[in-house]
Amino acid sequence: MPAHLLSIADLEDGQLESILDLALGLQARPDAHRSTLHGKSIGLYFEKSSTRTRVSFEVGMGQLGGQAVFLSTRDLQIGRGETIADTARVLSRYVNLLMLRTFEHSTVVEMAEHATIPVINGLTDELHPCQALADLMTVRQEFGDLRGRRISYIGDGNNVAHSLMIACARAGLDFSIASPPGYEVADKYLELAGALATDTGAGIETGTDPHAAVAGADAVYSDVWTSMGQETERAQRLADFEGYTVDDDLMARARSDAIYLHCLPCHRGEEVTASVVDGPQSRVFDQAENRMHTQKALMLRLLDRA
Ligand code: CP
Ligand code: NVA
Repeated sequence: MPAHLLSIADLEDGQLESILDLALGLQARPDAHRSTLHGKSIGLYFEKSSTRTRVSFEVGMGQLGGQAVFLSTRDLQIGRGETIADTARVLSRYVNLLMLRTFEHSTVVEMAEHATIPVINGLTDELHPCQALADLMTVRQEFGDLRGRRISYIGDGNNVAHSLMIACARAGLDFSIASPPGYEVADKYLELAGALATDTGAGIETGTDPHAAVAGADAVYSDVWTSMGQETERAQRLADFEGYTVDDDLMARARSDAIYLHCLPCHRGEEVTASVVDGPQSRVFDQAENRMHTQKALMLRLLDRA
């Protein structure tokens, strides 16, 4: 395993699938490893709101016998000017793992440089690798395999899209994305995914047409059009993303057995209609549950306990 999980690209070939195998086993046997992390702790550092990430890490660590400590930047001395480096050094003396949710991706990178414990990226403005683990677990549950499956993402080329694209490239799934002009995935992550895909045979396609993107999809995915920190752009984004709503018509253009995925929280009537997210093809609550199983597996692996 890598020292940290800042990006899915930190995982070498086979490690991602192996984490999913462990997560599926943990779901089947919730009592397994119930005291494996006894005496261990994780710090959960948040600059932004969270429901799923916070609760799934807290409860997941508890189920493994360990302890979670919630750390809000509103309360920490970092909010009054203590450096990231000193915070990393100090927290490394108290806890065994550190998860961070930050605005700047560089904050997580700097924390990992100075921490002497594994650091987990719990979402930055650029990446959301823990989400991608749960996303692929949900595809595994539905279809039994990953290689050769196709995930189509409709909307903003954001943190969730970047990590999903990288995870598909790493695990050998085809990935297509349709975004409005100006909201494409970042070139550096497209290049990274392209490099990973040459090893696994994954196909990575970008474009602007949602209809073209969902053709042949096993899973259709969308995320909010306005991410945390972009609230002042909301009106402009609502206008720019018109035509990018995942609705029944778009789902009908994917495979007949396709599932719908969303990291949540969602906005019904914007990036997805209520008929889709609350409909029979939706797996969004299984996907949310899978955050906990995959993160339990990740914590066990980073601490070399499974
Ligand atoms: N999907 C996700 O990360 O949800 P939260 O923002 O609630 O943690
Ligand atoms: N793209 C969203 C994901 C939230 C889980 C955001 O960054 O706000």
